[in-house]
Amino acid sequence: MNYIGSKYSLLDFLHETVKKVTNYEDGTPYSFADLFAGTGVVGAYYRGLGCKVLSNDLQYYSFVVNKHLIENTDSVRTDLLDHLNSLPGIDGFIYNNYCAGSGSGRNYFTDSNGRKCDAIRTELEKLLKANEIDKDTYFYYLASLINSIDKYANTASVYGAFLKNIKKSAAKDFILEPLPIVNGPKGKAYNKDINELVNEIEGDVLYLDPPYNERQYCANYHVLETIAKYDNPTVKGVTGLRNYSDQKSAFCSAKTVCDVFEDLIKKAKFKYIFLSYNNEGLMSLDQIKDIMSKYGEYSFYTKTYRRFKADKDENRNISANETIEYLHCLVKKDS
Ligand SMILES: C[S@@+](CC[C@H](N)C(=O)[O-])C[C@H]1O[C@@H](n2cnc3c(N)ncnc32)[C@H](O)[C@@H]1O
Repeated sequence: MNYIGSKYSLLDFLHETVKKVTNYEDGTPYSFADLFAGTGVVGAYYRGLGCKVLSNDLQYYSFVVNKHLIENTDSVRTDLLDHLNSLPGIDGFIYNNYCAGSGSGRNYFTDSNGRKCDAIRTELEKLLKANEIDKDTYFYYLASLINSIDKYANTASVYGAFLKNIKKSAAKDFILEPLPIVNGPKGKAYNKDINELVNEIEGDVLYLDPPYNERQYCANYHVLETIAKYDNPTVKGVTGLRNYSDQKSAFCSAKTVCDVFEDLIKKAKFKYIFLSYNNEGLMSLDQIKDIMSKYGEYSFYTKTYRRFKADKDENRNISANETIEYLHCLVKKDS
């Protein structure tokens, strides 16, 4: 999934650093908590390595995807894909609110893809209510729906705005594709504010990947949230935003971020804590270092990225700038 702050391309860097700091060899069955889980790539990777994974995110669409990646086993029913893909489209919430043909004034999906999304989403609810599928199978297909439909969104990248004209990838006919079933110990997914959850859990490695800036995920992925919940929300404005006042993250505000971060580090009952943060985030490197150092032995590792910006007309005159990704590490005292 195309997601702000996805750590897909940083998995090797994370894994090498975790090994260096913890001395855990591959195959050691340690527990790993991925509590700002987003797409779930990090948790799924560690489940695949044999860790017992705890996963969490404030957003419900992320919880759904992680519920599948972290908890499901091959006991789920995989025989429904053709049935779901062959359903005739219906005029449901997504078509009525996010497709141009309904007169919504919004252009997030083509009419036919929006109607197909509605048909699959409605069918999953119906099958669950009729006990024709269990919860695991329901989350398997719902997670696959969220992951697949995102590839057909008519946006520049996130759902903060839609494009006026339908772009090439959004014009294709939507096909539901199944997410993989991850081999590894069954873990547990949560859908809570991290500062609450941290009181309830404990383990070996805690991985933290909070938002770095003021962009709230709830506003940027509101359409996926509504597909996941399918709760007929009142939507407003040009982009059809749902009310997200109860999902605003304190990690997205310069005023609150240091306090909630310190609260989290203080309460965490984990021996090793790793924080991903880049050099352009709301907390400065010194603030992070000062907070983490209070609770044990602190160190950090870096990886430099070169961001390339191609010239508008041709791929000449390439200009580059750099961003540095930090992994802050803490070996906690008394844990
Ligand atoms: C940088 S993204 C994580 C990306 C993830 N590591 C990946 O590779 O896909 C940050 C995530 O933290 C979640 N989040 C923000 N504030 C939170 C909070 N207070 N409690 C739990 N999750 C939160 C957001 O919904 C978002 O999915």
